[in-house]
Amino acid sequence: MSAESTIPSMMYGTAWKKDETARLVKLAIKSGFTAIDTANQKKHYDEVLVGEALNDAFKSGAKRESFFIQTKYTSKDGQDHRLPYDPKADLKTQVRQSIDSSLEHLHTDYLDSYVLHGPHYRHGLGKEDWQVWEGIEEQFEAGKTKMVGCSNVSADQLRELSLAAKVKPKMVQNRCYAINGWDYEVRQICKEIGATYQGFSLLTANPQVLSHPFVLQIAQRQNATPAQIVFKFSMSIGMLPLTGTTSEKHMLEDLKSKELELTQEEIDTIEKISS
Ligand SMILES: NC(=O)c1ccc[n+]([C@@H]2O[C@H](COP(=O)([O-])OP(=O)(O)OC[C@H]3O[C@@H](n4cnc5c(N)ncnc54)[C@H](OP(=O)(O)O)[C@@H]3O)[C@@H](O)[C@H]2O)c1
Repeated sequence: MSAESTIPSMMYGTAWKKDETARLVKLAIKSGFTAIDTANQKKHYDEVLVGEALNDAFKSGAKRESFFIQTKYTSKDGQDHRLPYDPKADLKTQVRQSIDSSLEHLHTDYLDSYVLHGPHYRHGLGKEDWQVWEGIEEQFEAGKTKMVGCSNVSADQLRELSLAAKVKPKMVQNRCYAINGWDYEVRQICKEIGATYQGFSLLTANPQVLSHPFVLQIAQRQNATPAQIVFKFSMSIGMLPLTGTTSEKHMLEDLKSKELELTQEEIDTIEKISS
């Protein structure tokens, strides 16, 4: 495998698609998505069906390197009874079992990014988090992922992790609320440590932005939708946005948002919209 993965400009998220997962991931790939986010967590994702869609693409001649594949380790608290590891095993072993089954599900021998789905507590990192992180580091060192990351982290957790980890997080995936400056503090830390900030729920967490007169005005002028303006805005401030749309029309629109142009003044104004 080559040393570096190219960071995509948008990711297709595969949560909550159940039996429709393979069909929708195939449609996303056909629409032009190359970056796919999933998790080895049957409660919300069907990683096997994500793999079915990827395998279909590989069989049709698509190269593994043309995709950016990201999945996650989810602790027992975030899972239902369908665990991808032995719950009695120590945490490092659980991480190894989880990533090994992810690689099998996704028909690949490496991931572009492997993410800790979330720390055990809301603030600070506990003993369990460090054991899991060491497990993730071991998998990175074994060459099973090109980069590692974390999700659902507060600024203090990301700071602590980035200071003490042997292998530093390169991807940070958080729910992104305009109300807290679009996760300003966490984004700032990402910039300092050279990590990519991935924002999810950009549309669903920010309805007040989508209906804001300023955003509606830019959308009208650009012949675009407010959703496209939010995605372009997120890219303009350095984010890698996720969309999990189930509509082909929205898939194409979401990808096309990259081509829009916002002025610095527009970006600054949207960044300040909170209510
Ligand atoms: N790390 C975590 O804990 C975590 C948690 C949640 C999500 N995620 C990841 O993030 C991905 C995205 O999740 P999300 O929370 O952002 O929600 P989402 O699944 O992307 O849902 C977004 C909503 O926006 C709509 N939408 C998308 N594009 C649109 C457009 N151009 N115009 C109008 N509506 C549009 C969709 O409706 P249509 O289907 O009708 O387009 C949908 O109702 C997930 O699939 C998952 O991969 C991670």
